[in-house]
Amino acid sequence: MLLIRSLELKNKYFLAPMAEINDIAFRELCKKTGASLCYTGMINPLTQQKLQLEDKPAIQLFCTSESGIAEFMKKYDKTARLWDFNLGCPAKNARKLGFGSFMCHNLQEIDKILKVIRESTDKPVTVKLRKSRNINKIIKIAEKYCDAICIHPRTQEQGYSGKADVEYALKLKKRTKLPVIYSGDVDENNFKKLEKKFDFLMIGRAAVGNPGIFSRLSINKQSERISFKDYLELAIKHKLYFSQIKLQAMNFTKGLKTGKEMRRKLILAKTTREIREIYSI
Ligand SMILES: Cc1cc2nc3c(=O)[nH]c(=O)nc-3n(C[C@H](O)[C@H](O)[C@H](O)COP(=O)(O)O)c2cc1C
Repeated sequence: MLLIRSLELKNKYFLAPMAEINDIAFRELCKKTGASLCYTGMINPLTQQKLQLEDKPAIQLFCTSESGIAEFMKKYDKTARLWDFNLGCPAKNARKLGFGSFMCHNLQEIDKILKVIRESTDKPVTVKLRKSRNINKIIKIAEKYCDAICIHPRTQEQGYSGKADVEYALKLKKRTKLPVIYSGDVDENNFKKLEKKFDFLMIGRAAVGNPGIFSRLSINKQSERISFKDYLELAIKHKLYFSQIKLQAMNFTKGLKTGKEMRRKLILAKTTREIREIYSI
């Protein structure tokens, strides 16, 4: 049995945190097909939004100070399997507000935040990093409070383009005793090689519109083709917004022969019924 702190994990494959993509219906599908841990997208602990976390995901936080963390975690600790802190987001909004990869220079604040997270839970705590000048210093802080680190070895400037630097992640693994969760371009073709090098793997874009991928990674699972219909049933059960359903309807056209034509129609769809018609379901 694999472990992070006292969390038992049935395999090495996690659904990577993805804002907008990882709604509760999508996470449930990934869990069903074999992901041993499914992350939420990043959540601001000061959010007033109603959160749907009944599936017990790994919850990822982003923020620029400790404000509100303890209260938020108290409220949701029962529903979290693990808590992660985002130090990797490269988005414009993160630049503007100073969170994610844009707070990597602020070691004092990172220390304070991770300390509060650690003190607010007995569940595993992790931190998600990118390539950064301060990475060694951040790892030293993480070693005081965290149970694992996650590395997506691209720079802030790279965003999601270019190749993820596996060698960089390997060097980092050699430098720390903490388990390392690797994120970056993991797919059905390379996971076997990567899982020998790292403790855990995150699947991000390869799972978008394709949650069945997890059934093809675990040896004792039968390959499952999960369709948009499966997603839609869960989305309706969880009363997800139409805009979210439409986003996923676009994603699930990935790999379909008629995908391009379907997307052209989906852009114009205004009701779930129209989406059903486009999918013939
Ligand atoms: C649409 C999208 C949203 C993302 N949102 C987050 C997020 O909220 N938090 C985070 O740490 N990483 C986020 N990421 C980064 C992924 O977790 C992952 O590290 C990155 O995409 C590289 O892995 P991949 O090549 O498997 O996609 C996001 C990526 C994508 C494509």
